[in-house]
Amino acid sequence: MTSTVVVGGFFGDEGKGKIISYLAMKDNPKIIVRGGAGPNAGHTIRDGDKVYKVRMLPCGFLNKNAKMMIGPGVVINPDILKKEIQDFNTSGRSFIDQYCGIIEETHLARDSKGELKEKIGSTGSGTGPANADRAMRVLKLAKDIDSLSSLITDVPQEINSALSANENVLVEGTQGTFLSLWHGTYPFVTSKDVTASGICADVGLGPTKVDEVIVVFKSYVTRVGTGPLNNELSLEDAEKKGWLEFGTVTGRQRRAANFDFDLAKRAIMLNSATQISLTKLDILFPDCAGKNSFDELSKNAKAFIKNIEDELNTPVTIIGTGPDTNDIIDRRN
Ligand code: IMP
Ligand code: MG
Repeated sequence: MTSTVVVGGFFGDEGKGKIISYLAMKDNPKIIVRGGAGPNAGHTIRDGDKVYKVRMLPCGFLNKNAKMMIGPGVVINPDILKKEIQDFNTSGRSFIDQYCGIIEETHLARDSKGELKEKIGSTGSGTGPANADRAMRVLKLAKDIDSLSSLITDVPQEINSALSANENVLVEGTQGTFLSLWHGTYPFVTSKDVTASGICADVGLGPTKVDEVIVVFKSYVTRVGTGPLNNELSLEDAEKKGWLEFGTVTGRQRRAANFDFDLAKRAIMLNSATQISLTKLDILFPDCAGKNSFDELSKNAKAFIKNIEDELNTPVTIIGTGPDTNDIIDRRN
């Protein structure tokens, strides 16, 4: 029985989706459960020539034996959720908690203009205003919406029962440590705590039931929207390095910087990380593209990883070497 929590170590978009998708196939969890803010999240998963962009469902749906769940701490856009269940063929194995919050038109309208949009660079998904209404205790919950009734289950009960029955549970975080409402670069943050503790609270998993916390770092740092980014590269420099990326949800260009050891150390601390997953190694070291074993990596790539392990005092166990779910080096036994 293992519970594994996967969270972002920087500003989101570290490539969690791909890592979770891999773990969902490899570790065969009974349940993959999502915590985090809401449909402001965007995960991209590539499986062969298929590309999936996911905003509401957990990213593990490629494993057809696993149940997909969304924890009570998450706010849901019912239209997006229903469309994903249909598009990704997860009907009958997708569930939400009765206490999930509901995003309505008013939240979308309030998120598409004003301070949040202009100053913070909010994604406009209605997530922040819905969480504000939840704090005011006026937000509708999933149990209030008839068309969601067939999806409702007791998510905390399900995941805790699965763990008691010696099954694996994979807990999926969204955004990244420095977008946390508590620990991030306030006010340029999202509307929830998105560190491992917050994600666990979102799904109803207590601290003593957590076995592994995997913090995902990209091999460089990106940030979409406003807010501080130390040692930010100029657009030209980022482009030269091949680091230009565009947001999954908003299509906005991401800002870029070198791997930041100060941020990474703090992320390891804030999340009590037991393992590191390092993604996009092939962008930094093109000779590593598609590799599946550590031995095959170039000397420079190995040195980059060793330096991260030494500086952060945490093993780098899962390494992304390309966009496909199987472009992975897995160093767990
Ligand atoms: P909001 O969560 O939509 O209000 O956006 C607040 C800030 O967090 C903005 O800078 C967004 O770009 C950023 N943000 C929110 N969700 C994500 C995500 O999943 N990945 C990357 N940035 C995000
Ligand atoms: Mg994303």
